[in-house]
Amino acid sequence: MTIIDLKSDTVTRPGEEMRKAMYQAEVGDDVYGEDPTVNTLERKAAEMTGKEDALFVVSGTMGNLVSLLTHCRAGEGAILGSKSHIYFYEAGGLSALGGILPLIADDSDGLPSMDQVSHWDRPSNVHFVPARLLCLENTHNKCGGIAISPDRFAKAAEMAREKGMLTHLDGARVFNAAIAFGVDVREYTTRVDSVQLCLSKGLGAPVGSLICSDSDFISRARYWRKRVGGGMRQAGIIAAAGLYALENNIERLEEDHQNAGLLSTLLAEGGIEVESNGTGTNMVFFRVHLGDGGDDDLLERCAERSVQFNKVEPGRFRLVTHIDVTRDQVRQAAEVILEEVEACRSSH
Ligand SMILES: Cc1ncc(COP(=O)(O)O)c(C=O)c1O
Repeated sequence: MTIIDLKSDTVTRPGEEMRKAMYQAEVGDDVYGEDPTVNTLERKAAEMTGKEDALFVVSGTMGNLVSLLTHCRAGEGAILGSKSHIYFYEAGGLSALGGILPLIADDSDGLPSMDQVSHWDRPSNVHFVPARLLCLENTHNKCGGIAISPDRFAKAAEMAREKGMLTHLDGARVFNAAIAFGVDVREYTTRVDSVQLCLSKGLGAPVGSLICSDSDFISRARYWRKRVGGGMRQAGIIAAAGLYALENNIERLEEDHQNAGLLSTLLAEGGIEVESNGTGTNMVFFRVHLGDGGDDDLLERCAERSVQFNKVEPGRFRLVTHIDVTRDQVRQAAEVILEEVEACRSSH
């Protein structure tokens, strides 16, 4: 039976056309700047985001880390949402490798609270870590896959600028945000000093992220990429997949959003508490209270019926739609989840 894998949009496998592009890619040694496919990908990403230059890195985590290392020196602070991916899920790389102090702000509504950003904007004083950078995330994963509107986003970036702070966007899914609001991705990317975007999430490539910024920043970031071991050689093989993704898989994100909307409606109609995420993207979060062992039981029962998804905290589950999940499979998944929630409720 085909598995309906809703764990993440990172589980996609490259399709035939993408694989063909990889097979046919012209390659060279990228550490020497001689891989034509990587160079084309970097130019394309820079142009799409309205930036001067771009740098291909292996993952979103490396994209964020290298950006933060480039912006901040050891002993400087980066303001991070308490639910942000950089703070929550990236193994503390900024502190472990860069000596950068996370300055935490509540981001329950998707953006770091502006009051708390102001709180960290302290006068120059020997006691205080300088708040050098404000990090934003869009779409915001842990806050329900919420897409931040261009207007709210611009205001936050502007406020940081007025305070003399730099800005970085963790744009792992920034194209989902742009599609959700029907705007060009530049509405977000040109508001910040640097952005990292992932090719291996909704865009369906097997690996890779891009950091986009001005030329000086990218030259310095290239240095940091080398330092953390991210200088790759014939990387055109994987860059070709990324290029294919940027050329073919952005507009279709709308399908994933519609599928997530359908999933959300079907679960809510079946009596499940579904979190509303404002402008919907490709994530659905729902809550069920099943008592001791109930969460794992639900996951196991659904997996036995070929529907896979993740628990993000006790009683809270996440489903993510992507290029390898069809509308029919979404209907099927909703049916299985509703039946198994019912079964768990009666047995716990
Ligand atoms: C918002 C966000 N940023 C960064 C990352 C890290 O990407 P990677 O898994 O490629 O390191 C993820 C991964 O899911 C993410 O959701």
